This record gives sequence, structure tokens and C-alpha cells, in this order.
Amino acid sequence: MKKLLSTSPSPSLLVVCLWYMCLLLCLVRRSQAQNTTNATTDPSEVSALNSIFQKWGVSAFSTWNTTGDPCSGSAIDDSVSFDLERINPAIKCLCNFNNGTTCHITKMKVYEQNARGTIPEELRNLTKLSNLDLGRNYLTGPLPAFIGSLTDMQYLTFGVNALSGPIPKEIGNLRKLLSLGLGINNFSGSLPPELGNLVILEQLYIDSSGVGGEIPSTFANLVNLKKVWASDNAFNGTIPDFIGTWTNLDTLRLQGNSFQGSIPSSFSNLTLLTYLQISDISNGSSSLAFISNMTSLRSLILRNNMISGTIPSNIGEYQSLQQLDLSFNNLTGQIPSSLFNLSSLSTLFLGNNSLSGTLPSNKRLRLRIIDLSYNQLSGSFPSWVTQSGLQLNLMANNFVFDKSNSSTLPGLNCLQRNFPCNRGSPI
Ligand SMILES: *[C@@H]1O[C@H](CO)[C@@H](O)[C@H](O)[C@H]1NC(C)=O
Ligand SMILES: *[C@@H]1O[C@H](CO)[C@@H](O)[C@H](O)[C@H]1NC(C)=O
Ligand SMILES: *[C@@H]1O[C@H](CO)[C@@H](O)[C@H](O)[C@H]1NC(C)=O
Ligand SMILES: *[C@@H]1O[C@H](CO)[C@@H](O)[C@H](O)[C@H]1NC(C)=O
Ligand SMILES: *[C@@H]1O[C@H](CO)[C@@H](O)[C@H](O)[C@H]1NC(C)=O
Ligand SMILES: *[C@@H]1O[C@H](CO)[C@@H](O)[C@H](O)[C@H]1NC(C)=O
Ligand SMILES: *[C@@H]1O[C@H](CO)[C@@H](O)[C@H](O)[C@H]1NC(C)=O
Ligand SMILES: *[C@@H]1O[C@H](CO)[C@@H](O)[C@H](O)[C@H]1NC(C)=O
Ligand SMILES: *[C@@H]1O[C@H](CO)[C@@H](O)[C@H](O)[C@H]1NC(C)=O
Ligand SMILES: *[C@@H]1O[C@H](CO)[C@@H](O)[C@H](O)[C@H]1NC(C)=O
Ligand SMILES: *[C@@H]1O[C@H](CO)[C@@H](O)[C@H](O)[C@H]1NC(C)=O
Ligand SMILES: *[C@@H]1O[C@H](CO)[C@@H](O)[C@H](O)[C@H]1NC(C)=O
Repeated sequence: MKKLLSTSPSPSLLVVCLWYMCLLLCLVRRSQAQNTTNATTDPSEVSALNSIFQKWGVSAFSTWNTTGDPCSGSAIDDSVSFDLERINPAIKCLCNFNNGTTCHITKMKVYEQNARGTIPEELRNLTKLSNLDLGRNYLTGPLPAFIGSLTDMQYLTFGVNALSGPIPKEIGNLRKLLSLGLGINNFSGSLPPELGNLVILEQLYIDSSGVGGEIPSTFANLVNLKKVWASDNAFNGTIPDFIGTWTNLDTLRLQGNSFQGSIPSSFSNLTLLTYLQISDISNGSSSLAFISNMTSLRSLILRNNMISGTIPSNIGEYQSLQQLDLSFNNLTGQIPSSLFNLSSLSTLFLGNNSLSGTLPSNKRLRLRIIDLSYNQLSGSFPSWVTQSGLQLNLMANNFVFDKSNSSTLPGLNCLQRNFPCNRGSPI
């Protein structure tokens, strides 16, 4: 024991000492990692920035150096992410211009800051912007054409404002654009064909934007799109076939437009889709054949599209499906029992079709919201209909009621297609 104690301490002490020195060095290096610079911000950008914020009635965030050079503090600190919610409004700069003497503003975020007014002319002075987020404010007036001169732009959003007028065709000059957000505004006119030049675009958010007309044929070039939100606009004509070549699509929302015709069969190639939402197509007929290889779907909404035929028999393969809405179509045939056995499904809307046959005898507990109203379903009820917490709508079908089930779902017997209760007796 004694021998061990007398011989072992010196090497282990050395190791511990070295370890602490390392740790200390690391800490020191870490605290020095914040960028410091002797470079200063381009003076025209400083005055443009101050002028923009003054016009919008927005004050800068406290860690943002407004008294001195704006490209200081968190604006040049690489350890402070631009995406941090708590740093808002925010800018980021790069200071390696003119041999390390000049900083340019490269990112600007004024998100949900009650900014009101128009998009000021001074914005065009921030020529090196690659990321501009002006989402959720009260910006009015037009989206100026000079936006198209900020050609370093990669992420551009004006979503959730009250901008009006046409979408400027000059946005088509922003060839580095990866994400464009124009949704929830009051634009007018149609989509400029020039947007088809944005060939590396991955995200396009134009839901509820006010635009309409046909989707330009130049959009056939936008094959890198992954997320497209285009619901609640006045798009018309047919849904273009070429969308079926956007095979990177993960999310497609096309609800509440004025499309006519059918869902293109080319959509069967969009096998990476996890969210597909198309509704309210008139004057056409589609089948569900095109979804047969989309087995990654989590949400499938194909409401009110004049879809006929049956629910695919392979529906049991859609193990990721959480939400399915095929209501207001012309679906016929039976409800496949595998549909009620899907492991992830929680919400099912099949109302207003012509489905027949009986209810599946088994249902997963997870499936808790079910609308089968206005169909031609018949037979009596499986035991799961009384599961507690289940939200179930079975009205306007042809269910059979007798002593065994008339008290299972009280009142439902009066709400079937043959409307049997109190007929002709004014109570
Ligand atoms: C800034 O300038 C000073 C004085 O010229 C110099 O000592 C320092 O190293 C410079 N700092 C940087 C980050 O370039
Ligand atoms: C914007 O830049 C132009 C020159 O490029 C300059 O004349 C103008 O004063 C600048 N605007 C502001 C607000 O600094
Ligand atoms: C603000 O800018 C001034 C002048 O450029 C500088 O002296 C000061 O250190 C900066 N403050 C911060 C917190 O970066
Ligand atoms: C901070 O330093 C890193 C490398 O040390 C550099 O790549 C980066 O451009 C610098 N950031 C700014 C704002 O100058
Ligand atoms: C760039 O800066 C370095 C160091 O500050 C200097 O030695 C060099 O001459 C400068 N180059 C030019 C083109 O100004
Ligand atoms: C939307 O723009 C139109 C003109 O295109 C205008 O008449 C209307 O008042 C605007 N609506 C809102 C809510 O701003
Ligand atoms: C689509 O809407 C535009 C503008 O409202 C209209 O001019 C055009 O005729 C419509 N096209 C079709 C196919 O309905
Ligand atoms: C799916 O893509 C392949 C390869 O591009 C193409 O040959 C085929 O015609 C497409 N299918 C449909 C239904 O458009
Ligand atoms: C689904 O994929 C299989 C195998 O790749 C293919 O044979 C079939 O035609 C595809 N179905 C549809 C509707 O495209
Ligand atoms: C519906 O489609 C048919 C054939 O495609 C066409 O002749 C007819 O005009 C369309 N109806 C309406 C209301 O657009
Ligand atoms: C779909 O059903 C509606 C109402 O039941 C009917 O008017 C329409 O003709 C049907 N369409 C097709 C394509 O079967
Ligand atoms: C339900 O699905 C599971 C696999 O998820 C399977 O083992 C079981 O046999 C299915 N039950 C019915 C009634 O189809």
C-alpha cells in the first residue's frame, strides 16, 4: 500500500496538470474565437440601414451596435447564429472586402417587428445581401423591381405582409435564389415567366399571395424544388404535367385554386412526397392510381377533386400516413380493412363519396378522428365505435338499426339516408 502511494503520484499528477493547462488554453482560445476586425462598414450601407429602420419605426436589438459600426458585436460573431430567434432584428456582415478593410451587410432579418410602411429605396444599397427576411410585418405598397439587382440573394422572404401590385419579373435575375417567400400578401396579376430562370430554387412559398392565372410553362425548369406552397390563389387552367418532373418534391400544397381537369398522371413519379395537398379541382376526373408509389406520405389531402374509382388496395403499405382526406370525391367500393390498421394514421376523412360495404371490424386505437358521412355504408357497428375519445361521424349512410345496436350511437338511426324518424309528423 505504502509503496504504491509513494511511487504512483508523480506521473498521474503530471497528467492532471497537463490536462488542466490544456483546458485553460482551450477556454482562452474559445473566448478569442469571436471575430474582431479593424474593418468598417461601407458608409452607404450604414446610412441606408439607419434610414430603413427609421422609416419602418423599428429599433435595433440591444446587442447590435448602433452607436458605432453596425458590423460589430453579434453581427460579426460567428458563434452567434443568424437564425437565433432571440436576436431579431439582426444583421450579419462579411469583413474581408478591400483587403480586409471593408464590411458589407450580407444578412438582414426584421421578422415580426411591426415594421410598417413601404419597402424603402435604400434597401438597394445593401448590395451584398444573400439573406433577407422581412416576414410577418405590415409592409405595404409594391415589391420594387430593384430587388432583382441584389444578385447574391439566396434566401428571400416577404411572407405575411400586405404588399400589393405585380410580382416583379426582375426576381428572375436572382439566379442564386434557394428560397423565395411571397405568401400571404395582396399581390395581383400572374406569376412572371422569368421566375422559371431560378433553376436552383428549392423552396417556393406563394400561398394566399393574391396572384392567379396559369402557372407559366417556364416553371418546367424548376426541377430542384422541394417545397411548394401554392394554396389559396387564383391559379387556373390545368395543373401542369411538368410538375411530375419535379422529382425532389417533398411538399406540394395546391388547395383552393381554380384549376380544372385532372391530376396529371406524371405525378406518379413524385415518390419522395411526404405532404401532398391538392383540392378543389373542377371539371375533370382523376383516379388514385398515381399515388401508388408514394409510400412515404405522411399527409395526403385530395379533397373535392372529382376523383373516382376505389381506395387503392395497397393502402396498408402507407405506414407513415398520419392524415388522409379523400372527402368530396366520387370514390366507390369498400373501405379496405388495412386502412383502419395503418400504424400512424390518426385522422381520416372519407365523407361525401359513394363508398359502400360495411365498416372494418378492427381499428387501431391511434385512429381517433373519422368522418365517413354521406356515403352508402351499410351493416351494423363493430365494437370500436364506442371507444372513448373517438370522434366519429357516420351520418347519411345506410346503416341498419335493430334492437342490438339502436342504442349504441343514440340518435344516429334518425340521421341515415332514408331519414326514418318523425317523417310526416310535425311535432
Ligand atoms: C487592428 O489594428 C491594430 C493596430 O493597427 C492591430 O494591432 C490589430 O492586430 C488589428 N486587429 C485585427 C483583428 O486585424
Ligand atoms: C445609396 O448608394 C448611393 C450610391 O450607390 C448613394 O448615392 C446613396 O446616398 C446611398 N443611399 C444611402 C441612404 O446611403
Ligand atoms: C461599437 O462600435 C464602436 C465603434 O466602432 C466600438 O468602439 C465598440 O466597441 C462597439 N461595441 C460593441 C459592443 O461591439
Ligand atoms: C470570422 O473568421 C472566420 C475565420 O476565422 C472567417 O471565415 C469569417 O469570414 C470571419 N467573419 C467575418 C464577419 O469577418
Ligand atoms: C493588404 O494588407 C496587407 C496587410 O495589412 C498589406 O501587406 C498588403 O500590402 C495589402 N494589399 C493591398 C493590395 O493593399
Ligand atoms: C389589395 O389590393 C387591391 C388592389 O390590387 C386593393 O383594392 C385592396 O384594398 C387590397 N386589399 C388589402 C386587404 O390590402
Ligand atoms: C385564367 O385567369 C386569367 C386571369 O384571370 C384569365 O385571363 C384567363 O382567361 C383564365 N384562363 C383560363 C384557362 O380559365
Ligand atoms: C416518370 O419518369 C420517367 C423517367 O423520367 C418517364 O420515362 C416516365 O414517362 C414518367 N412517368 C409518367 C407517368 O410521366
Ligand atoms: C411504381 O413503381 C413500379 C416499380 O418502379 C413501376 O413498375 C410502376 O409503374 C410504378 N407505378 C406508377 C403508378 O407509376
Ligand atoms: C370542361 O371541360 C370540357 C372538356 O375539357 C370543356 O369543353 C368545357 O368547356 C369545360 N367546362 C368549363 C365550365 O370550363
Ligand atoms: C361525381 O359525383 C357528382 C355528385 O355525386 C356527380 O355530379 C358527378 O357527375 C360525378 N362525377 C364523376 C366523374 O363521376
Ligand atoms: C395489422 O397490421 C399489423 C402490422 O402492422 C399486422 O401484423 C396485422 O396482421 C394487421 N392486422 C390486420 C387485421 O390486418
